[in-house]
Amino acid sequence: MKKYVLVGTGHRGIQTYIRPILEEYQDCAEIAAVCDINGKRARFVSTYLGHEIPAYTDFDQMMKDHKPDVVIVTTKDCFHEEYIVKALEYGCDVITEKPMTTTAEMCASILEAEKRTGHKVTVTFNYRFMPIFAQIKEFVASGKLGDVLSVHFEWILDTTHGAAYFRRWHSQRKNSGSLVVHKSTHHFDLINWILDDIPVKVNAFGSRRFYGHTREERGANCRTCAYKDSCEFYYDLAKDEQGFYKGLYIDCEDEDGYIRDRCLFSDDIDIEDSLSVNVQYGKGTSMSYSLTTHSPYEGWRMVFNGVNGRLEVTAFENVVVDKQEIFRFYDRDGRCVDYDLRNVKRRVGGHGGSDTSLRDNLFRGYTSDPLGQMADTRAGALSIGVGIAANKSMAEGRSVCLSEFLGDYFPELKK
Ligand SMILES: NC(=O)c1ccc[n+]([C@@H]2O[C@H](COP(=O)([O-])OP(=O)(O)OC[C@H]3O[C@@H](n4cnc5c(N)ncnc54)[C@H](O)[C@@H]3O)[C@@H](O)[C@H]2O)c1
Repeated sequence: MKKYVLVGTGHRGIQTYIRPILEEYQDCAEIAAVCDINGKRARFVSTYLGHEIPAYTDFDQMMKDHKPDVVIVTTKDCFHEEYIVKALEYGCDVITEKPMTTTAEMCASILEAEKRTGHKVTVTFNYRFMPIFAQIKEFVASGKLGDVLSVHFEWILDTTHGAAYFRRWHSQRKNSGSLVVHKSTHHFDLINWILDDIPVKVNAFGSRRFYGHTREERGANCRTCAYKDSCEFYYDLAKDEQGFYKGLYIDCEDEDGYIRDRCLFSDDIDIEDSLSVNVQYGKGTSMSYSLTTHSPYEGWRMVFNGVNGRLEVTAFENVVVDKQEIFRFYDRDGRCVDYDLRNVKRRVGGHGGSDTSLRDNLFRGYTSDPLGQMADTRAGALSIGVGIAANKSMAEGRSVCLSEFLGDYFPELKK
């Protein structure tokens, strides 16, 4: 039985870790205490889940009182590093949410602390556990494509999911590192993992022309807005099942001033809503990647151009189409093979069941991991590395090598 504590009792912390530990992993995991900068939010955990869990606002006090084996970090991104490093120094292993952190300096600090303390950090890349991505990983590893020469990867968010990032703390670069770090860390990790390669050089462009100050009919937040009856983006935070959002956010506002239904057209928003990134990989593959946050539908498309053929995988959500997923291989003899994904084993749970598979590995342990789905700080660093390099590229108008800030930790980036 391992003893866990968690810092950052927001949506992800409660629904993905605390609740499942209490309800599904009682035989192997104990959640001893929780901590949040917002004491009301930390105490809400017990009220909401109906289990008395000690709640702290002082992380050090929690660590001294409970002496856990593992610390789970689910705070706002920019604070991951502070708690990861402290937890390692307390002699604990760490499970941290993505992105591992948001800046080159904090990334270096985590890598250095892990090496110095000898304890282990796991970065929870749940997307690796989505059956369709595991399928792509297996296909590329099978050699059917031959060497992968280039990748095209487009990630598409609609105006519900995409807009959600612009209402919350994510909309400010200082909190999230912008979406090219916060969101794209998932996507860069997938490609790094599927190609089994390292990203070495990045060039990026980005803009914000859909959200942010693009209209005059705007307010501070949806609940108080004069345009709530006419705005197509009006969002009712209070309207949710069992008062979760009300209890977790609205009732806690007075303690930290965090407003979760802020206006999408606010002046404070300083992240991009359209991104275009080129990445050069160590073995020679090049990738063109884009992130769109304002599409009429959700989905993604990954294309691998190999020496022996071309793999095109497309997924659609929130739109009526003939097929939600297409997994198609074109060979060099003019054949096109569609793989039937209906029989792929899928699990119930968040993010296409991937959260469930991830948790089994985290809490029950795993003896074999043939696809390498569990991720460490190397994966955490090399995926945010692309985002950090992209931010630098946009700011400085040049191509940026990851060796500029990660070369001391991963010498292969310098070759
Ligand atoms: N893997 C995934 O698919 C996935 C999905 C959602 C969120 N996440 C990650 O989970 C983390 C939490 O996201 P969320 O959606 O739960 O956000 P949230 O806003 O609901 O929760 C964040 C919590 O962190 C707390 N916090 C902020 N600063 C703190 C500090 N200095 N010390 C302690 N606590 C602090 C806030 O009070 C809040 O309770 C983020 O890093 C996010 O990237 C990952």
